[in-house]
Amino acid sequence: MKTTLSCIKADVGSIGGHIQPSRLLVEAVRSKIAEQAKELKLDYAISHTGDDVAILMAHPHGVSYAPIHELAFRAFQAGTEVARQQGLYGAGQDLLKDAFSGNVRGMGPEVAEMEFEERPNEPFLLFAADKTSPGAFNLPLYLSFADPMFCSGLLLGPKLMKGFRFVIMDVDCTEGDRVIDLNAPEDLYQIAALLRDTERFVVEAIYNRTTGEQAAVVSTSRLRNIAGKYVGKDDPVCLVRVQSDFPATGEVLAPYALTHYVAGFMRGSHNGPLMPVSQGTGVSYFDGPPVVSCHAMCVHQGRFTEAADPFSHPFWRSIQDHAAAKAVEMRRQGFFGPAMLPYSDLEYGGIVQMLDELEPRFKMRPAEKAVPV
Ligand code: 13P
Ligand code: 13P
Ligand code: MG
Ligand code: MG
Repeated sequence: MKTTLSCIKADVGSIGGHIQPSRLLVEAVRSKIAEQAKELKLDYAISHTGDDVAILMAHPHGVSYAPIHELAFRAFQAGTEVARQQGLYGAGQDLLKDAFSGNVRGMGPEVAEMEFEERPNEPFLLFAADKTSPGAFNLPLYLSFADPMFCSGLLLGPKLMKGFRFVIMDVDCTEGDRVIDLNAPEDLYQIAALLRDTERFVVEAIYNRTTGEQAAVVSTSRLRNIAGKYVGKDDPVCLVRVQSDFPATGEVLAPYALTHYVAGFMRGSHNGPLMPVSQGTGVSYFDGPPVVSCHAMCVHQGRFTEAADPFSHPFWRSIQDHAAAKAVEMRRQGFFGPAMLPYSDLEYGGIVQMLDELEPRFKMRPAEKAVPV
C-alpha cells in the first residue's frame, strides 16, 4: 500500500525565551490533530525539539494534501491560542499568514513529505533540528548517501552500489523552485561544490538510482523570503528511509558524530556545532547550541510503532561534550569572523540599518592623496 509521511513543524511559542514549548501548548496541538485523525485516516506522533513542535503524520492521501496541511495549520493555531493564554514568548512566531489557502508550505511552518509504496517492513528516521537552517542536513546527507567512508553500504550493499540521485534546491531563488538533479558518484564534486554553500543550496530529496525509490526529504522553507525580515530561523526537519536499499540506520546517524558547525545559534546569526540530543530536549547556552533530535520508527499499513531515541544512547554523551567544547571555543571570539554569519546572511536583521546609516559617512579619498599601492 502507498503511505505518505508528512512532517510539519513550527514554533508557536515557548517558555522562558526561545528554549522549549510548554506542556499545555504541545497538548493543544496533539488534541487538535486527534480530533480529525480517524476522519483523515491518519496516525500521528507529536514531539518537540528546542522551541519547535513537530507533527509527524502517516496517511494514504499523498503529499500536499490540503486537508492534512490545514489540520496541521489549525493545530498550530490551537497551540498559538494556548501560548497567548499562558503568555508564552513568541506566540504564533512561525505562523506568518492567517488565512489558510490550500498548502501550509510558504506560510511559515517547515514541511517534509514523501509518498512511497510501503516495504513489508518500513524503518525510517525523523530528524528535527532547532536553531539552524535546512542546509544543516547537507553534510550528513552527503556523507551517508555518497561517501563510503561513512556508508559502507555503498561498497557492500548490492542495491546501493549504483549510488543516489540528489535533488538540490537554490533556496535564494524567490521566483519559484530552482532545482538541479545530480547523481552520486559521477557528479560527486558538483554535489560537494553546491552543498558546501549551506545557506544557498539545500538537499531537497534523495533517490536510489537502482530502484528509483525516494530515500530522503528535507524541508526547504526560508522564513525570511516569506516575511521579508528575520523572524526566527528555518529550523528544519528531514525524513530518511533506512535499511535494505537505503543506508542502514547507523550509517545515517554516523555523520552526526562530527557535530559540524552550522548557521543559526543565537538570533539565527552565528555559527555553532550541531549537537545530537534526546527527543524533547530544549536549548540553553547562547540560545543553542543548534540541536538535532532523531525519532527512529517503523510505519506499517499507515500505523506507527513507538519511536526509539537513538541520540539518547550512551555513545552520544562524549559527542555532546565535544559539541559543547566546540560551542564554547567558537563563542570565545564573540562576533568576529566565522563566529557570526557573513553580512549576506544577516541582511534581514538590524545590522543592515546600522550599516545603511554609515553609508553617507564613507568618503572617497582624492586620488592625489591615495595611499600608493
Ligand atoms: P540487516 O541485514 O538486518 O538489514 O542489517 C544489516 C545492517 O544493515 C547492519 O548495519
Ligand atoms: P527560533 O528560530 O528557534 O525561534 O530562535 C530564534 C532566535 O533568534 C534565537 O536566538
Ligand atoms: Mg522561537
Ligand atoms: Mg526554533
